[in-house]
Amino acid sequence: MFELAPSILSADFTRLAEEISAVKEGGARVLHVDVMDGHFVPNITIGLPVVKSIRKATDLIIDAHLMIEEPGRYAIEFARAGADMVSVHVEADAHLHRTVSTLKDAGAKAGVAINPGTALDTLHEILPYVDFVLLMSVNPGFGGQSFVPTMLEKLRRLKSIIDGRSLPVQIEIDGGVDATNIKEIVAAGADIVVAGSAVYGGGNPASAVRQLIEEGTAWV
Ligand code: DX5
Ligand code: ZN
Repeated sequence: MFELAPSILSADFTRLAEEISAVKEGGARVLHVDVMDGHFVPNITIGLPVVKSIRKATDLIIDAHLMIEEPGRYAIEFARAGADMVSVHVEADAHLHRTVSTLKDAGAKAGVAINPGTALDTLHEILPYVDFVLLMSVNPGFGGQSFVPTMLEKLRRLKSIIDGRSLPVQIEIDGGVDATNIKEIVAAGADIVVAGSAVYGGGNPASAVRQLIEEGTAWV
């Protein structure tokens, strides 16, 4: 089994509550929220006030993906704003262990995110302390990009590292997922699969979610 996490990055922000209800209706249980600061990535999206509003509007699990510099300064604020899961990038945080511990103390699930060009070795020391790893399968910053093909093999390698060390760490994959590749991605070991444009790009998010869950579940 896997969780599909629709990313609101590709939603219509003027109708955000409806767009969120639609993915819940389709069967999603996790909502992916992309926070970008214009420094760590070349785009600016949304921040704490929007997460607080979303918390009031839904009971879905809120998964905040922080694509920001110095995430240790803000991570706990996202947990307090109502995010159930918070991930910070290994490339952006010189004090990962401290940030992860703070998040867990605040009652959130703590994740580390890793860019396509960053080696898995970077995760070696932090792995026993995290609840999940967010493996980026596009270069972060924008929705609608193509899945970087070598990330499938990276996903398999991460899965075997986690299993080999018997760690209770989940793998989330983010970027370029659609109905054509979700089966392979789930089969390769992803526990949580993010989809933005594949969910919100076609005009019927509820049915897109249903279709993606069906495709991903049918991998055996
Ligand atoms: C990219 C974001 C992703 C994005 C995925 O920087 O982290 O979560 O919304 O969008 P798609 O599914 O369109 O690649
Ligand atoms: Zn994301």
